[in-house]
Amino acid sequence: MATQQLQTELDNLLGWVESMRNRVRAIAREWQAEEGNLIMILHAIQNEFGYIPRGAANELAKELGTSMARIYEVITFYHYFRLTPPGNHHIQVCMGTACYLKGADELHAELDHQLKLLEAAGVRRNEFNLETVRCIGCCGMAPAVVVDGETHGRLCPSNVKDIIKQKRGK
Ligand code: FES
Repeated sequence: MATQQLQTELDNLLGWVESMRNRVRAIAREWQAEEGNLIMILHAIQNEFGYIPRGAANELAKELGTSMARIYEVITFYHYFRLTPPGNHHIQVCMGTACYLKGADELHAELDHQLKLLEAAGVRRNEFNLETVRCIGCCGMAPAVVVDGETHGRLCPSNVKDIIKQKRGK
C-alpha cells in the first residue's frame, strides 16, 4: 500500500479516536449530576458507537476519576453491553426455559460452529453478531432465534446453516 494512502488511513483513524474521546467526555458531563450515572453513560456510549470501545472505557474512567476495573465490572455484569463492534447481521438465540428445553443450546453451539467456519474461511469477522437472550415471547415456536429482527421458530441445528446462507445472499 502506498505511503500516502497509509498516512491518510492513519490520519482518519486518529481523527476518529479524537472525536470518540470528545464524545465520551461530553456524554459523561451530560450525566454527571445523575445518581448511578455509570450505567446511563455506558448505555449512551453504546448507542453512539454500537459497542463500548476500549478507548471509550479508558476515557470514561479518566473523566469520572474511577478505575478501568470498575468500568469493566459494570460492562461485563450486564449482558446488554458489547465490547466488540456489532456485526452486520444480528443473531439472537433465545435461552428462555421453553427454548432451552427444546434444544436452544444445541442451536447456539451450531451457529457458533458455523460462524467460526466462516471466519476460518476468511469471511469478515464482524459480519455476524451472535448472542443469547432471555424469553422473546414466542415460546410456542420454541426453540426460537431472532435474525435481524425476524423471528424463526421450531428450529433444529440442521436449519441454521440455511439461515446464515440466506443472510449472506448465497
Ligand atoms: S423461552 Fe424462548 S421464546 Fe419464550
